[in-house]
Amino acid sequence: MPQSVIVLGGGIIGLSCAFEAARRGMRVTLIEPAALGGQASGAAAGMLAPYSENTEQPDSFFQLCLHSLRHFPEWIAAVEELSGLSAEWVRSGSINVFMHEADLLPIQSRLRWQNEWGADAQLIDAAQLRMLEPRLAQSAVAGIFTPHESHVYAPKLVTALEAACLKLGVTILLQAGEVDEVAVHPSGGVTVRAKALEQPVHADRVVVSAGAWSGAYERWFGLSIPVHPIRGQICSFEHPGGEVRHMVFSSQAYWVGKRNNRLVCGASEDVAGFQTHVTERGIGRLIRSSNKLFPFLEGKETAHRWAGLRPATRDGQPLLGKVEGMPAVIMAAGHYRNGILLSPVTAFIVADLLEGKPSELPLQSFDPNRFTPIPYRRRFV
Ligand code: GLY
Repeated sequence: MPQSVIVLGGGIIGLSCAFEAARRGMRVTLIEPAALGGQASGAAAGMLAPYSENTEQPDSFFQLCLHSLRHFPEWIAAVEELSGLSAEWVRSGSINVFMHEADLLPIQSRLRWQNEWGADAQLIDAAQLRMLEPRLAQSAVAGIFTPHESHVYAPKLVTALEAACLKLGVTILLQAGEVDEVAVHPSGGVTVRAKALEQPVHADRVVVSAGAWSGAYERWFGLSIPVHPIRGQICSFEHPGGEVRHMVFSSQAYWVGKRNNRLVCGASEDVAGFQTHVTERGIGRLIRSSNKLFPFLEGKETAHRWAGLRPATRDGQPLLGKVEGMPAVIMAAGHYRNGILLSPVTAFIVADLLEGKPSELPLQSFDPNRFTPIPYRRRFV
């Protein structure tokens, strides 16, 4: 087992990997160029919704998401107990709302396979829909109620993970600036130099969990890392009465009622490079969808507007595993829309790889080497 690990990136994935590695007895240093959870993790609505986010088929990505959901009770309990902080986990269940009879056609096959995978989901008619969500528009014709989906308050989970990591002795280096060099030594070990760090940091292994910025590491590993940012614009409304009880999904947007009396509505998917500002167009679409599905929001101002950059890969699958020929380097990046949900399973897989154990789940679809033509791969073993 390695004695020491550097985790590059302090989003939900990096913090979770650091937490799990430290829980298993490793000495962990987390290096974050700016602030913890400052990007996609801080912007996220915190939905733990593998069924609503994967509606087509039970592929390996869905199975990864589901596995992670099943680990959430023990994971949240461990993080909250150690940190003494709440992640505001709300077991609300979710409702996918349909506005047209024609939308119902593909539902039976979705319900069939999702229930085979433990969704316990039900098709509900317009009357049941309004009983569960009384403030929904009259024009909604039916829905799928999925009871096991839930949500956390992502910024609080980040804070709780930080506190839990500190309790376990993780060294967290914030505002480290851009990483200048990751030197993977053929004889073993890794050295990381960053702009604002006075000293280089050395360890036995390194985990790259830099979200949308992960592509910057390809030059040091001879690895093609096609991770690119997809902006998610998101807004919230004052929601003191808690009128929206479940997570609600439509074909246009989703809504999540938080304990802080805010109803969060997300999210756009725009290509805007690394820009994180919101636009009238992006937020305007969310407002129009909100007014249509929840008429009580008509005329209400948004309370807050923000955006984050999701780390997307070319094939929609994360990069999760060891870099070929460089066993000291592990990738944990490209979780796109599901970083919060996938945080426990990613942390377990990464910690298993660090310990040299086989992963519980098949990782072929997530092989981080899959985009790199074989002649270009480095061989340090
Ligand atoms: N998981 C929701 C989103 O990425 O917008």
